[in-house]
Amino acid sequence: MKSLKEYIFEAKEKKVAIGHFNISTIDALWAIYGAAKKLDLPVIIGVSEGEREYVGVRAIAKVVRDIRENNNYPIFLNADHTYSYEKVQEAVDAGFDAVIIDGAQLSFDENISLTKKSLTYAKNKNPDVLIEGELGYIGTSSKVLTEIPKGAALDSASMTSPEQAKKFVESTGVDLLAPAVGNIHGMLAVGHDPRLDIPRIKAISEATGIPLVLHGGSGTVDEDFVSAIDAGVAVVHINTELRVAYTKALQAEFEKNPGEVAPYKYFKPAAAALGKVVEDRLKLFNKIVS
Ligand code: G3H
Ligand code: ZN
Repeated sequence: MKSLKEYIFEAKEKKVAIGHFNISTIDALWAIYGAAKKLDLPVIIGVSEGEREYVGVRAIAKVVRDIRENNNYPIFLNADHTYSYEKVQEAVDAGFDAVIIDGAQLSFDENISLTKKSLTYAKNKNPDVLIEGELGYIGTSSKVLTEIPKGAALDSASMTSPEQAKKFVESTGVDLLAPAVGNIHGMLAVGHDPRLDIPRIKAISEATGIPLVLHGGSGTVDEDFVSAIDAGVAVVHINTELRVAYTKALQAEFEKNPGEVAPYKYFKPAAAALGKVVEDRLKLFNKIVS
């Protein structure tokens, strides 16, 4: 099987993107695996600090590795938005395939220093682990929003610039970069999220030469995903849309069958609804028409 790095570079080359989907529960992992397998596509499972604390840091690493090895299937695990050196160590030691060091709210120099220190630890421990840096603040929560997250970089002066991105990548040696290019974490309750700055994505991709990761995918218009992928995005993160689909289906199930007490029965339609979102997003990211 190819490495995660090879899959990501292959995606960039083919102008498609690998879907990165967050989970809080094991049934969501099975639903994502099922959807990816149906389309025969590699997939990345993401767990934020909160999500991995809930599912168990070492447990989730073992489960994803077990699925990959026993089925010879390209499913990988990413330690999403990791804010401290200690949490990077924990994820790397647990055997995660990739880690994002999120220093977006730090100063440029502090971000470089945390990212560099974390990368050195990670690569010494496991040379194959992929390290992603984050540059530019896009909000922090995967939730339904009534307004744009405060402080989110949405104007040209605060979004990531190609010059900054180049300097950051050269100074840290990261494998992947998550820039602020008009994207926001979470999704607006009404309408769609702000439009992406496609020329900026292209310029950052050319300036850095490494694959870009688009965070805050939920609520983005389909056309922007396709243009962003053509411009250099090789991984797309989706979380809020999955949470919404899962929760709505669960609420509907409780209304339909209020007497049901078997969790494996009432969680089933929720996981199925989540799996449907994953399938649709994977088709879009891989330009599969059907
Ligand atoms: O890292 C997680 C993602 O960037 C998810 O963002 O909740 O807006 O899809 P989203
Ligand atoms: Zn994110």
